[in-house]
Amino acid sequence: MKDSHVLVTGGAGFIGSNLVRHLIDQGNSVVVLDNFMSGYRSNLEPFPTVRLLEGDVRDKTMVEEAMKGVEVVFHLAASVGNKRSIDHPVTDAEINVLGTLNVLESARKAGVRKIVTSSSAGIFGELKTMPIREDHPVEPDTPYGCTKLCEEKLCLSYSKLYPIEAVCLRYFNVYGPNQRYDAYGNVIPIFVFRMLRNEPLLIYGDGEQTRDFVHVDDVVQANLKAADATGVNGAYNIASGTRVTINSLANIITKDNLSPVEIKHGPERPGDVRHSLADISQANQKFNFAPEVDLEIGLDAYVQWARKAHLGII
Ligand SMILES: NC(=O)c1ccc[n+]([C@@H]2O[C@H](COP(=O)([O-])OP(=O)(O)OC[C@H]3O[C@@H](n4cnc5c(N)ncnc54)[C@H](O)[C@@H]3O)[C@@H](O)[C@H]2O)c1
Repeated sequence: MKDSHVLVTGGAGFIGSNLVRHLIDQGNSVVVLDNFMSGYRSNLEPFPTVRLLEGDVRDKTMVEEAMKGVEVVFHLAASVGNKRSIDHPVTDAEINVLGTLNVLESARKAGVRKIVTSSSAGIFGELKTMPIREDHPVEPDTPYGCTKLCEEKLCLSYSKLYPIEAVCLRYFNVYGPNQRYDAYGNVIPIFVFRMLRNEPLLIYGDGEQTRDFVHVDDVVQANLKAADATGVNGAYNIASGTRVTINSLANIITKDNLSPVEIKHGPERPGDVRHSLADISQANQKFNFAPEVDLEIGLDAYVQWARKAHLGII
């Protein structure tokens, strides 16, 4: 993507702000629409040329304002995560379903060429075959998985009804800079920030459950390539195509810490899948997606970023 006018909804968030950095680097003009529900102003401070609209994807007028003159929409704004959706299922649906419809309606009216939307491996539910291909049954275990699936289907139906292309990217577990610890955080920031606070790491269950972790730079690569790929529609897995146990993950994260880190085990969590590993060949074939960041290297860099965040330097 070069010299285009693009909208990033949720651009103040973890993945959105990494995407904004690459879009700016490549000479695009970028509008961000974000209500800061889980995003941070500081994530956008390095990018003074970004036009920031503080607003909600549920607000039609705001979305229409953000959409003016836009060629490509990267739709990342969402109520994110299984736990948040269990705690707040109605808000989850309002943002992820009705918010997405607002974005699609506005994009259609504005003549947007393409929407790249952020979906989730949470749509699959418990694993039946491995690695998980795109045609794996979709039986989500949480409201979040259901609303992300609905978001996908809405986007794809618009690509059939109207002259707008839609690519839905099913991220597996994403990690990298700007990923902060909060009550709804993912396992990597939780482990890293607890280690930095000298707190024990808590593993749910026996720790032999596996996850496919993908670095945010690779997720950004997928967004940019999907946007550039003319004539490509559909839903694609975005992951590393490798998996690691949670026990191994904890060992990699803690291996270089100066003081020993205590690792505890607690009961399994409802809604958590046992294993996760993606087949990423479709995204490779359709838009040349090829993850580049090795897990150990990516984790080392993330721990360095988190140390600075922990000390309040960034
Ligand atoms: N992080 C992951 O591992 C992961 C995995 C699968 C899918 N995803 C998807 O990727 C996208 C980005 O997730 P993230 O990890 O960067 O999370 P995030 O919480 O950091 O980013 C979401 C952003 O959306 C904004 N937002 C929330 N509700 C909004 C609303 N109503 N109007 C406008 N803005 C709103 C938040 O303030 C935040 O900046 C989401 O769609 C999420 O479902 C993330």
